Amino acid sequence: MDAIKNSIPGNMFAIRQYEPDGKLVVETIPVPQPGRGEVLVKMAASPINPSDLALLKGGYMKRSYPFTPGLEGSGVVVDSGGGVMARLRKGKRVACTPNPEGDGTWAEFMLTSAMRTIPLPAAITQEQGAMTVVNPMTAMAFLHMAKTGKHLAVVNNAAASSLGKMLIRLCVDQKIPLINIVRNASHIKELKKLGATYVLNSQDKGFETELISLATELGATLFLDALSGPLTYQLLQAAPPRSTIVVYARLAGESMQINSGHLIRRDIKIVGFQLGNWLQTKGIFFKLAFIKGVKKQLGNALSSHINQTFSLEDVEKAIVHYTQNMSSGKVLLLIKQKE
Ligand SMILES: NC(=O)c1ccc[n+]([C@@H]2O[C@H](COP(=O)([O-])OP(=O)(O)OC[C@H]3O[C@@H](n4cnc5c(N)ncnc54)[C@H](OP(=O)(O)O)[C@@H]3O)[C@@H](O)[C@H]2O)c1
Repeated sequence: MDAIKNSIPGNMFAIRQYEPDGKLVVETIPVPQPGRGEVLVKMAASPINPSDLALLKGGYMKRSYPFTPGLEGSGVVVDSGGGVMARLRKGKRVACTPNPEGDGTWAEFMLTSAMRTIPLPAAITQEQGAMTVVNPMTAMAFLHMAKTGKHLAVVNNAAASSLGKMLIRLCVDQKIPLINIVRNASHIKELKKLGATYVLNSQDKGFETELISLATELGATLFLDALSGPLTYQLLQAAPPRSTIVVYARLAGESMQINSGHLIRRDIKIVGFQLGNWLQTKGIFFKLAFIKGVKKQLGNALSSHINQTFSLEDVEKAIVHYTQNMSSGKVLLLIKQKE
């Protein structure tokens, strides 16, 4: 193990951003030293997620500049700063997320709390393992909400996303009717192939009426909203009494539109969801069982299709490719250590 530690260089390559919406530059910076309870992860892979794009624009999460982006990834723990969990992680292949306000995964090494690492099952590749946290845990959180809230059916929009596809597989498995909303007819066939029974296109003329009648017929009372903006109004209009609308992203980039009359008369709740906040409301035993459940399904229902891989240096090209092909699968940065 010490041979691994001795092989850690003094400096590393990292992607850095100097201001909100600023250019991404590849820089050589010192490899950080883990403190107590922390580990140093030699990074292998990291996806580009919508949350990364929001972080790069600024204002999504607090960061002091310059900083290294990247909100999840995978690698091998090569050093620990001491403490039981950090020591136990040494030498393990892990999925990892950065410390709050800390530097991220788009670098050769990342320092993080041992609590923010999850050992990967042997059958899971570093590439797939890099996408363990953000979408799989959110999909499982939504399934948990559907089951504990005794919702007879669920509605999800931006449904051709990686997360949307995970939700389709989970709902098929659990026999929970799921109404999927996409904005592009070309996605319908693919989602049906995954097992989706109901796929509506928000661009179709009869969309609003169809959503209202399907939601009513199936008793859908959990509405998952990744778009916000004008579509929230349409969800609210279709939501039966005592429904919950869970707003988990703002892909539409516009302010949410709501009819307060619908909210009041039908006793509807609109709540925000952020995975980290949601997990914080849960106790340690729930979290351990939850992570175990996620790991069990990583290779199947919670797997992400990888559309294309890029090297760390090509991060700008990777972002362009990703933003132009979001529904085609994840774009992954593969992080090879420099000689
Ligand atoms: N709150 C949380 O804790 C949390 C956790 C995980 C994920 N999320 C959110 O969940 C969403 C899905 O994540 P992902 O990684 O699975 O995404 P992804 O695979 O990158 O796919 C994004 C999807 O959004 C669609 N889309 C983008 N802009 C749109 C718009 N203006 N109107 C309609 N559809 C639009 C795209 O469809 P087209 O092909 O039509 O462009 C694509 O299917 C993201 O918004 C992400 O931020 C939130």
